[in-house]
Amino acid sequence: RPRTASSCLTRCTFWPCRWHARSATTGALQDWGTGVRVAGFDTKTVTLADGTVVELSKPRIAFDGVTPEVYSLRSAQPMIGMGLLEAVPDADILARVRSTPDADGVMGRANFAYDPETGVVRLGRYGWKAAKVSLRHQAANALLLDMSVTSPVYPSRSCLTDAANCRSGPAANGIPEDALTLVTRYLGLLGVPAQRSQSSGFPKGVTPLPYLQVDTAQVTRGAQLFAQARCTACHISEMKTGLGSELTEVRDQTIKPYTDLLLHDMGSDLADGLVEGQASGNMWRTSALWGIGYSQFVAGNTPIGYLHDGRARNLTEAIVWHGGEATASRQRFVGFSKADRDALLAFLNSL
Ligand code: HEC
Repeated sequence: RPRTASSCLTRCTFWPCRWHARSATTGALQDWGTGVRVAGFDTKTVTLADGTVVELSKPRIAFDGVTPEVYSLRSAQPMIGMGLLEAVPDADILARVRSTPDADGVMGRANFAYDPETGVVRLGRYGWKAAKVSLRHQAANALLLDMSVTSPVYPSRSCLTDAANCRSGPAANGIPEDALTLVTRYLGLLGVPAQRSQSSGFPKGVTPLPYLQVDTAQVTRGAQLFAQARCTACHISEMKTGLGSELTEVRDQTIKPYTDLLLHDMGSDLADGLVEGQASGNMWRTSALWGIGYSQFVAGNTPIGYLHDGRARNLTEAIVWHGGEATASRQRFVGFSKADRDALLAFLNSL
């Protein structure tokens, strides 16, 4: 989870990760190599109802050579609970699709993509725009796109630029089937931590570790405010997994991912202009919020970066960036008193 835009770019100098941008004329992905950097940050301030000023900052990207017409800066998404999300039946996700806005203007669109192995169009679940249909697809795509590693799903590097001939081209040496299967299964079994909503129960005089220090009343109040601000219109709190997964561990469970796995128009400030299937440049898949409270602890000395490009330095910034369909919800948060905002943040931090 934690990765700022700048540390992601720094990482590119150590890892063989590449930049790809879609050509505006041919639509094909082009390899931009590593000649990309964060040249600075554009900032603006937003004043909350109680007078608190929040500075929002957004990375400005510079390219060596030609600037592509469309590009998208993405940080890595948290990887917990992915097998549980795969086990949610399609019908349950599709049942929440709305083509007419609710009272707040919230809709919800499904993304669809080709399963690269079968060619069948399936519901998308993974990635910032829900354009990957399975964990196997997500893992194979990341191997190819981020690390230039081929696999049985994408047997040749030409898959990057020429989807139609991807499987007919000469196969490169890549990771073999058994390794891809193991990586996929590993991802599918990464567990989700329990919510910390109860006080620790440590005896008097014992100070629990910071992440176990919980103010139960504040967390309870925060959960109410999360629903009251209608964050739950997209970050829906409860789903059930079906019986279809090959992993027994993820079958038949009630889960609390705080995502509907659907796409929402989040407004022009968050837009990247990159279309992926049904997802327009303004659209993003609702981020799962489970485990989000651990970000600050797993980050160590690395700054946390929330949102798709890691621009938000804390949870308040992440919420205040919400626009488009989430505007009414953001406005309620902006209108809260400091005590209520703190309670909402305490709730998020308990997840
Ligand atoms: C219209 C749907 C919608 C509503 C309503 C909504 N969100 Fe979101 N939320 C999203 C989407 C989509 C993203 C991902 C946006 C991005 O990364 O650019 C997101 C991202 C986030 C993130 C960052 C998560 C991360 O790991 O980077 C937080 C925190 C968050 N939302 C909290 C809230 C809170 C609190 C509310 C209510 C005040 C709220 N959201 C209301 C759709 C919504």
